[in-house]
Amino acid sequence: MNSIQINSGGKLRHFLTIQGLNKDIILQILDTADHFTSTLQNNSKTPLLEGKTIINLFFENSTRTLSTFELAAKCLSADVINFNIRTSSTQKGESLLDTLSSLNAMRCNMFIVRHPDSGAAYFLAYHAPRHVNVINAGDGCHAHPSQAMLDMFTIRRYKTDFSDLIVAIVGDILHSRVARSEIQALKILGVREIRVIGPRTLLPQSMDALGINIFYDMESGLRDVDVVIMLRLQQERMQSALLPSLQEYFRLYGLTEEKLAVAKPDVIVMHPGPINRGVEIESTIADGPRSVILEQVSHGIPIRMAIIAMTQG
Ligand code: CP
Repeated sequence: MNSIQINSGGKLRHFLTIQGLNKDIILQILDTADHFTSTLQNNSKTPLLEGKTIINLFFENSTRTLSTFELAAKCLSADVINFNIRTSSTQKGESLLDTLSSLNAMRCNMFIVRHPDSGAAYFLAYHAPRHVNVINAGDGCHAHPSQAMLDMFTIRRYKTDFSDLIVAIVGDILHSRVARSEIQALKILGVREIRVIGPRTLLPQSMDALGINIFYDMESGLRDVDVVIMLRLQQERMQSALLPSLQEYFRLYGLTEEKLAVAKPDVIVMHPGPINRGVEIESTIADGPRSVILEQVSHGIPIRMAIIAMTQG
């Protein structure tokens, strides 16, 4: 994968996955996002991508990722087209490759792609002309690397040293592209311990081999954690009934004040969104003082500016 996403000079050409990136690139993305945060605070645009055209190619619904990629591109002075799949010729049977070829003929510089199939962004990057960069905005169950980066950015704002941290990821790990990308980023950044917590039916067997600690109950899994990342139940990706009921899931794995009491007093609570209140998390936590969920959304702008700028640079 890296041979396609890193150029011969060691710089990002496409941004498809966290896997295989080195710590220097991860830190460079975080530092560049810090720089853009200052630009955003001054309400000023940067002319870095003047004259460039970016196409948001979203084959799956999105609120946060699509809007923040659009805002990020505009803050970098790029021209942005949000390609509307529902009114496009893909509805008439046009293939992904033919859609790409037609859009390439319009001389765009970058595609930001979300697709329900794992590997779709890689496929487009493989077929893209040399001057076109591809950013993965989430592909199937595979990867959501820009979400992982904005989550690392959020953690770094609250917790200075990754090597001190215990991070727990809770819920539907099996279907989560966010969890996969986050685990890769947390490992590269050298956190002390990564835990996954959830029912056996939603935890992949491979976790042990990755050196991740598995917990099937919240009370032991959340003990002394610094960061809790709650995940959405991806019911659209479940092939069969993997849960007895949503009420039972909330009783066992929904984040409540009572369950969070065993975590560190300064724990932060994260969720990539969209959140299902009363299923993964209760409202008093989601809207409470330890929640950084809306900050995660805001951090999407400087992080995505950094990713776009670094792939174009
Ligand atoms: N976290 C995330 O990917 O949210 P959206 O589906 O709203 O983009």
